[in-house]
Amino acid sequence: FLLCRETEACLDPEALRGLSESLGRRSVPHPHARPAAGTRVGVVQYSHEGTFEAIQLDDDRIDSLSSFKEAVKNLEWIAGGTWTPSALKFAYNQLIKESRRQKTRVFAVVITDGRHDPRDDDLNLRALCNHDVTVTAIGIGDMFHEKHESENLYSIACDKPQQVRNMTRFSDLVAEKFIDDMEDVLCPDPQIVCPDLPCQTELYVAQCTQRPVDIVFLLDGSERLGEQNFHKARRFVEEVSRRLTLARREDDPLHARVALLQFGGPGPQRVEFPLTSNLTAIHQALEGARYLNSFSHVGAGIVHAINHVVRGARAGARRHAELAFVFLTDGVTGNDSLEEAVHSMRKQNVVPTVVAVGGDVDTDVLSKISLGDATAIFREKDYDSLAQPGFFDRFIRWIC
Ligand SMILES: *[C@@H]1O[C@H](CO)[C@@H](O)[C@H](O)[C@H]1NC(C)=O
Ligand SMILES: *[C@@H]1O[C@H](CO)[C@@H](O)[C@H](O)[C@H]1NC(C)=O
Ligand SMILES: *[C@@H]1O[C@H](CO)[C@@H](O)[C@H](O)[C@H]1NC(C)=O
Repeated sequence: FLLCRETEACLDPEALRGLSESLGRRSVPHPHARPAAGTRVGVVQYSHEGTFEAIQLDDDRIDSLSSFKEAVKNLEWIAGGTWTPSALKFAYNQLIKESRRQKTRVFAVVITDGRHDPRDDDLNLRALCNHDVTVTAIGIGDMFHEKHESENLYSIACDKPQQVRNMTRFSDLVAEKFIDDMEDVLCPDPQIVCPDLPCQTELYVAQCTQRPVDIVFLLDGSERLGEQNFHKARRFVEEVSRRLTLARREDDPLHARVALLQFGGPGPQRVEFPLTSNLTAIHQALEGARYLNSFSHVGAGIVHAINHVVRGARAGARRHAELAFVFLTDGVTGNDSLEEAVHSMRKQNVVPTVVAVGGDVDTDVLSKISLGDATAIFREKDYDSLAQPGFFDRFIRWIC
């Protein structure tokens, strides 16, 4: 993959942080194809000779974070060879040359895990050099052990050693530390600027009005929770639903919808209400919800949520919506179907958030259900904290 990002006025990283998800989490495509300010992002996937798939910087269908994410999701993995030099030339000619904006810094991030095909032209490794593009080359895997391969990375990075990164695993790409580093590279001196959009965005993104989000709460109904906390958790779900801007109809292409599953397991799982935007229905369902007070398996809960909420016959998740799972659990649950469940979550592109209450939590399980994203885990000391503005506002910003 090769990623190009144009920056002019970087946004306040704090404002960006709220906008979610690794790559998409940190850079906000501007809603206009050739705006005067803001960031645009393009992607090139490359493989064997002449095989490219690209998201153009000036694609005017990419007008929001969710449409960008959708486009990235729709990239299909092209198995095949590694023609890095050709890809760099392609990126310059097809993405940057024509569509770059005046006085805009252009960054390219090249991510590769191996030696390129010997039939390709080495000269093109420097295709982005001398064009006022800042190139970072990221080599993944064991390629650093070979002198020749390291040299190629240096060529890609226009002979600037500080712009070469090595990494052992692809998963390190989404490590918080690495993303912070890249944020510094791509946005070295962030300014808090308000071009026509972001100041408003923060407000209306903060309430899930600008993009579709389907939020499934998974409440751990185990006996560890206790009746009192069950009522507090219920109230939390209700407060969140009231705060969000809910969809106007069930097929509204924007805004939020909410569902609640109380999981026990491996047997009892209770869909308290399916994905809905009807506050009256949410309120009534919460009033009627009874505490399971049973043993619980979070894996079984996830599988149930996917089969009966996400793929529910009546009110399943919307195709273009971001699918968020919010876990209310301390992670101390059985591990039935956990691996399978985590796999399904990835397959469904679920964006997880974990609200872990109490001092005694199972961090391994929390890490699994948060898909390894430590920033997606909120640790709170008790259920009363969920109603405090400090937590509540942070949570709403995060989820939206
Ligand atoms: C990878 O990068 C680190 C940090 O820059 C460096 O210390 C290390 O020697 C590199 N590994 C190899 C095999 O080049
Ligand atoms: C919302 O839910 C309530 C209670 O279930 C129901 O009476 C009402 O018709 C619903 N409203 C809409 C617009 O579907
Ligand atoms: C599941 O839990 C059991 C009992 O605590 C343990 O023996 C087993 O290794 C766990 N399995 C996995 C896959 O973590």
